[in-house]
Amino acid sequence: MKYTRIAGTGGFLPEKVLTNHDLEEMVDTSDEWIVDRTGIRKRHIAADDETTCDLAEQAARRAMSAAGKEAHDIDLVIVATTTPDQIFPSTACLLQQRLGIRGCAAFDVQAVCTGFVYALGIADNFIRTGSARCALIVGAETLSRIVDWTDRDTCVLFGDGAGAVIVEASSEPGIISSHLHADGKYAELLQVPAGVSSGLSQLADAGAFIEMRGNEVFKMAVTTLGRIVDETLGHNGMNKSDIDWLIPHQANIRIIKATARKLRMPMDHVVVTVDEHGNTSAASVPLALDEAVRSGRIKRGETLLLEAFGGGFTWGSVLLKY
Ligand code: ACO
Repeated sequence: MKYTRIAGTGGFLPEKVLTNHDLEEMVDTSDEWIVDRTGIRKRHIAADDETTCDLAEQAARRAMSAAGKEAHDIDLVIVATTTPDQIFPSTACLLQQRLGIRGCAAFDVQAVCTGFVYALGIADNFIRTGSARCALIVGAETLSRIVDWTDRDTCVLFGDGAGAVIVEASSEPGIISSHLHADGKYAELLQVPAGVSSGLSQLADAGAFIEMRGNEVFKMAVTTLGRIVDETLGHNGMNKSDIDWLIPHQANIRIIKATARKLRMPMDHVVVTVDEHGNTSAASVPLALDEAVRSGRIKRGETLLLEAFGGGFTWGSVLLKY
């Protein structure tokens, strides 16, 4: 049996920090409201000349170093992002070039906040079928570029960053299962209603910003993530107590706590970075994973449940032995 095993993780956050108190100067909000409703205290924001690929490169280099891998070892590159540097080439191709990786498949995945979970599930299929042996998977975002900084409903929520993993073929588990879903009928609840084929001039005039019906998204996220926990455990005939760590998408501490309650998981076994990073979309799960691995909290052999929910709607989980 061939498994996909995490060989190393990496993360990168831009230097600039935007606190809730900074936001109080920009929109009609308060530190108290933001902490109470979301758990967020600060977020990192990319410099004007810093792109998604710049963040991805730093996270990727750290993951490669942690895994002891060189460019020539890697035979698949996937970047999950909603905020690519260019329309094309893909950010994965730009990153491949920066890292000196040659010839292998490289592509972006667009599943908004679920992007990294999608990318990991895709890489698992490449590796288990023998199409790849060692993959670089990155979730990277400069979400600050699509935030309307005058809209208090959304601007307090998001941040920039990148997280990466190197996964490789192994006879030891490994990813146990991945579960990927989407339902496009909810597209209008969370969207950036601008794009290439609907007209770039319109984009230049009006801007392209995140629009969210927060309350409806919140309710859907809580129920859907509860269902994915049941689906993942049921598929593997496992119990809640078999999970050592929950590594959730970092959108809102109240959504994270609801999923933890569903798992009967004490919060000291839930990786939380939303307070420090805000919602970094596709970067949030790999950043949280990297933080917990580097701090020594997550140990080899432990069972991890990664889950995410985002625009689309998309949602998914990956269950793995670290
Ligand atoms: N500061 C102060 N007050 C605010 C702010 C703010 N930043 N934002 C909204 N309010 C006000 C509202 O105007 C409203 O006022 P009103 O009662 O006078 O009308 C009040 O606070 C309550 O607003 P709600 O939207 O009901 O607040 P809620 O408790 O739902 O929290 C939040 C809003 C934090 C956005 C929450 O709904 C949420 O987290 N939603 C889910 C986000 C998410 O998970 N997104 C998915 C991933 S993102 C992706 O895929 C890109």
